[in-house]
Amino acid sequence: MNYRHAFHAGNFADIAKHAILLAVLAAMKPERVLDTHAGAGLYDLDGEDARRTGEAELGVARLMADVGTPEVFASLKAAVARVNPDGGLRWYPGSPRLVVDALAPGASYAGFELHPDAHAQLAHALRAPPKGVRVETLKLDGYDEAARRTAADGGRTLLLVDPPFERADDYERVLALTAALNPATGALIWLPLKDLETFDAFLSRLEAQRPPSLSAAQVRIKPLDNPMRMNGCALVAVNLPDVDGATGTVCAWVADRLGGPGARGLVERLAG
Ligand SMILES: C[S@@+](CC[C@H](N)C(=O)[O-])C[C@H]1O[C@@H](n2cnc3c(N)ncnc32)[C@H](O)[C@@H]1O
Repeated sequence: MNYRHAFHAGNFADIAKHAILLAVLAAMKPERVLDTHAGAGLYDLDGEDARRTGEAELGVARLMADVGTPEVFASLKAAVARVNPDGGLRWYPGSPRLVVDALAPGASYAGFELHPDAHAQLAHALRAPPKGVRVETLKLDGYDEAARRTAADGGRTLLLVDPPFERADDYERVLALTAALNPATGALIWLPLKDLETFDAFLSRLEAQRPPSLSAAQVRIKPLDNPMRMNGCALVAVNLPDVDGATGTVCAWVADRLGGPGARGLVERLAG
């Protein structure tokens, strides 16, 4: 396991993922969230890893500096401001912090993270959850543990599936998880966009599982003409409330403001 999210925290893909995640949370009001690949929870943008890539400069720094950003980004901007109480932009919240701070009392969050350092940071980042929100952080395989837990009734459940895609079997394992979803569970899945063949093949296999609803959003920050690089990212919503309007606005803004020539955002409803 080589992937370290600290290099990429607050980049265009995080902005798209996290703004859409917050829109889903507001519409769904889940009783339980299972974060299959939780990461460290909170990232130091002044740290060596973040400074080495400079990705946050081209992502969250532009978002926070923008005036007149569409309303759909308001909760992400507020969450970033909350983790920087002295002003400035030193810290960026990962999905665990964003979810836990958005949950209502009585709801629960479980984050799974295999990397020992990231897991220790995750536990620290979530040490003081809002009153009444139950939090677990576990150094376990997120695919296996989420599948095991969704098999038992946990009420309205949101699965966030955000693998590093550094292993060849990540697509297979995501599809095994979606095939096992019960009707009370929905999934928001993040994917890299390198070439359209891989993405379309994934979507076709997902459609063949006949989920009650399915929506696919893309942020292309570069034309898809070089499959060896990350040209964008996608967020696929399975059996979740329809937030396509908000998702479309997020993808269009990220492509327009954080992308290069030929960038575009799009959202497509495939079922439901
Ligand atoms: C893209 S990052 C997660 C970012 C996080 N979801 C966020 O939005 O802030 C992926 C994380 O998954 C972890 N990981 C890799 N394979 C895993 C597995 N099978 N189960 C749980 N965690 C895993 C990596 O160590 C890495 O920290």
